[in-house]
Formats: sequence, C-alpha cells, structure tokens
Amino acid sequence: MSLLTAGKGDSKYNIHISKNIFSKNIFNKYINKKNKVLIITDDGIPKNYVSDLKKNINVKNVHTYVLRKGERSKSLNSYQKILNQLVKLKFDRSDCLIAFGGGVVGDITGFVASSYLRGIKFVQIPTTLLAQVDSSVGGKTGINLPQGKNLVGAFYNPKAVLISTHFLTTLNMNEYKSGLGEVVKYALIGNKKLKEIIEKNSEKIINKDESTLMILIEESIKTKSKIVTKDEKESGIRAILNFGHTFGHAIEAFNNYKNITHGAAVTLGMIIAAKLSFYEGHIKNHQLDNVVNMIDSLGLDSDHSKYSYIKLKKYIASDKKVLNGKLNLILIDKNFNAFRTSKFKVENIIKSLN
Ligand SMILES: NC(=O)c1ccc[n+]([C@@H]2O[C@H](COP(=O)([O-])OP(=O)(O)OC[C@H]3O[C@@H](n4cnc5c(N)ncnc54)[C@H](O)[C@@H]3O)[C@@H](O)[C@H]2O)c1
Ligand SMILES: [Zn+2]
Repeated sequence: MSLLTAGKGDSKYNIHISKNIFSKNIFNKYINKKNKVLIITDDGIPKNYVSDLKKNINVKNVHTYVLRKGERSKSLNSYQKILNQLVKLKFDRSDCLIAFGGGVVGDITGFVASSYLRGIKFVQIPTTLLAQVDSSVGGKTGINLPQGKNLVGAFYNPKAVLISTHFLTTLNMNEYKSGLGEVVKYALIGNKKLKEIIEKNSEKIINKDESTLMILIEESIKTKSKIVTKDEKESGIRAILNFGHTFGHAIEAFNNYKNITHGAAVTLGMIIAAKLSFYEGHIKNHQLDNVVNMIDSLGLDSDHSKYSYIKLKKYIASDKKVLNGKLNLILIDKNFNAFRTSKFKVENIIKSLN
C-alpha cells in the first residue's frame, strides 16, 4: 500500500493505493461509524463490490443511490434526485457521501458534496483506471447541461481517495484503455520514470498485472497531484494536464461523445499534438516515433486519419483553452516536458492532422 497526498492547508487529503482496499483497515479513519453514509454508484459496477464496500465500512446507517451507467447520468436531473434523497434521509454536515464508481459517479457525487448544505464530506473510491489516475484527484467536480459537458461545477476536494487495483479486473478493455491514455499523458508531460516503466512493461500493463498497475497509478497520481496542488484553480501550470485534450475534445465532440472513449480521443489528440510539436521544431523525428511506438505498444489506437482538419476545425476553435481569443495548445519539447503556447502556424496544424 502506498500513501500520497494532494491539496493544501485544510483541504489537503490522503490518497491510498493498494491491491485490495478491503483488506486494509482504513475506512474508519475517514468515516465515522456514528454518522450516516450515502454510497453513490452506478448500475455498471459489479453488485458484489457494493455489498463488499457496505460490509467493510461497517456503518449502521448506510444507504445507496444507484445511477444509470453512462455520461447521461451526470445531469441536473440526477443531481436534483440525489439532493432529494439527502433531504429525505436528513443528512447533515457531519454525514458523508462515498463516490463509488468511475468519473461520472465521482464528478456528480463531488458536486453534490460541494453544494448540499454548502458542503459536506465525501470520499472517492474510484473503480475505473481513468478515475483512479485522473478524475478522483484534483478536486474538479461537476455535471453536464444540455448545452454542453461540465458546464456547472465546483472545485471541491474529497476527504480521501481510496484506490484499489482489484476493481480493475472487471473493467472492460475499452474503458481500461481509456485510462491508459491518461497514464501515457503523464509520461509525456514530464514523468520520465513513468515513461520508462511503460516502455519496459507493455505486456504486463496490457495484462493488468497488479504490481505494475500499482506503480503506474502511483506515478500518474504523483504527477497529477504535484500539478494540481501548485495550481488548484487552473490558472497556470495545470494547463499542461490538457496535453492532447484540445484535439481530443474536438474528436469527442465530432463524434457527439459517442463511440469513442475520452482516453481514446485524448490518445489520438496526443499524437496530433506531438506531430505539431515536431512540425514546430520542438522535437525530432525519433521523439515523435517514440510517442507513437509507446502508444502502439499498449494496444491503443494511434490512427487519427479519420479526423481531418476540415472536420475538426470548428471544434478546435471552441475549446475551453481559447484564452483572450487566442488558441492555446500544449506541446512537448525534446526532453518530454510540456509547455503552453499560442505560437504555432495553422499550416502545421493542418499537416499534423494529415
Ligand atoms: N473531475 C475531473 O478532473 C475529471 C477528469 C477526467 C474525466 N472526468 C469525467 O469522468 C467521466 C468519465 O469517467 P470514466 O471514464 O471513469 O467513465 P464512467 O464513469 O462512465 O465509467 C465507465 C463505465 O465503466 C463501468 N465501471 C466502472 N467501474 C467498473 C469496474 N470496476 N468494473 C466494471 N465496470 C466498471 C461504469 O459502470 C461505466 O459504464 C466523464 O464524465 C469526464 O468528464 C472528470
Ligand atoms: Zn482527460
């Protein structure tokens, strides 16, 4: 088991990573037996995990709220229903929510926690690789509006994040690969140790070897927590976590957020951003090959030929990272460090998307 932290001051929190969190006696550290608990989860998470969790937290007054699996549950409607439930159960500020699922469950649970009674305690128990390496850490919570994704939310940190690699055994390959896309991102934006581990252990990673997963998750979170702790509200350095995301979001939007996972879109986005880094002269050909080979070695899709500049153009321009009317992109340099820039030639973007 390893222990990391994120956040500063009063909102600093522990992140526990282990192979099986149920074999550790840590729930009582964060959840008071005398209080009420609402576990928020979705119907794609194996039921035995939910019953095991209930057994392990060993709290008398425990309730469960099960969302339908999928992005559509991150809605105002579900938000309202969860609030109704909390009022009905008379939850007060000393009670606790548990987000038990992927990023969808984590984001909406965190937002409910941030706003119900102006903020109640919540614990993240992420069950997808994407949620374990990315969405459960950093304090971003939120829901979607019909007009767009993540339009309402808050920065609100959990009391703790409890990660267990054994949940990943039941995660399907598509969702697993989505999380791997974000892991590769951390390797390409400055975590050299992680980059080396991926390059040496691709077979083990594809086979979900638990010891390798422990290290991958730990290294990913080290990078994320270092960055989000420096820049909690996303005003500076945190932007580099968006490496691959401007093009990735454009690919997701072009697909209407269907048929492609976030991580798969970001993986293609990273290849496009690496190509742009090459055409702009920041990296050499062999470094570009290195990026593509690493992605291929994990069995992730690297073929972005479906997505031409013409198709993605309008989505690229509407990305959130447009600041003061200028498109800002995250590129990489020859040492595999990321940086934000608005200096690049449109013709190089067009070339990168060929
Ligand atoms: N807050 C942040 O910083 C942040 C960062 C990245 C992404 N996100 C958000 O995260 C969401 C995506 O999260 P996600 O990729 O985890 O998807 P998800 O939450 O939709 O989960 C994917 C699927 O896996 C199933 N599942 C979860 N755990 C499982 C397990 N252990 N075994 C079997 N099936 C399991 C779920 O039921 C679901 O159908 C998006 O809404 C995105 O906006 C937030
Ligand atoms: Zn992402």
